[in-house]
Amino acid sequence: MDKKLIVANWKCNPTTFKKAELLFDLIKKGLKNIKNVEVVICPPFVYLTTINKKRETSIKTGGQDCFWKKKGPFTGEVSPDMLKDLGCRYVIIGHSERRRYFSETDTMINKKLKLTLKKKLKPILCIDKISQVKKDLKGISRGEIKNIVLAYEPLFAIGTGKTASPEKAAEFNLSIKRILGDKVLILYGGSVSSKNARGFIQESGFQGLLIGGASLRAKEFIRIVKNIDSLR
Ligand code: PGA
Repeated sequence: MDKKLIVANWKCNPTTFKKAELLFDLIKKGLKNIKNVEVVICPPFVYLTTINKKRETSIKTGGQDCFWKKKGPFTGEVSPDMLKDLGCRYVIIGHSERRRYFSETDTMINKKLKLTLKKKLKPILCIDKISQVKKDLKGISRGEIKNIVLAYEPLFAIGTGKTASPEKAAEFNLSIKRILGDKVLILYGGSVSSKNARGFIQESGFQGLLIGGASLRAKEFIRIVKNIDSLR
């Protein structure tokens, strides 16, 4: 079995450095013997330095966003080079909360993807509609597309406790593969828990999960990773 990918998106949590450190320490301890899952933790930027120092090679890290320019007068922004320099391998791009609260457009997301790929940081592109795929990937070659991880995150499922049905999710998964080929890794995200995680892998055919709320509860997150790790 190919390794599955499980990404923890901590969003704007936890509120203190101490809590972030504790959460990470618990997760790291709980995931010592994981073999079939690559775990990526995406904390707020301000915690990345410490977490990158503490992590072991088996746990990877990522940013929750990045800018489309390398450097310069862009107050508040963080570039892919900065993330790479800290030891991050991944970066989430185009999360629906960024599209919604910060008015990120497909054009902006496209620029972010291009620079991220150029810098050899792996983008995790979040979409909830097939129509976004073409716009977000405009001008990106087939060869490069296989370096992108795609996350299907239906809007109604994010943080609501509702999930897409395994059948609907499987349908989406297939449609994406039809467009992008089967080399692209596709994750499911939206109210993933230890109760439903296996279904998205086994029934819907996703190669991993993007987890928000449940990744802030160490025990629950560890349970999810172990559930997927034990799949044969
Ligand atoms: P959720 O968030 O697991 O809390 O629904 C997922 C996400 O927004 O990436």
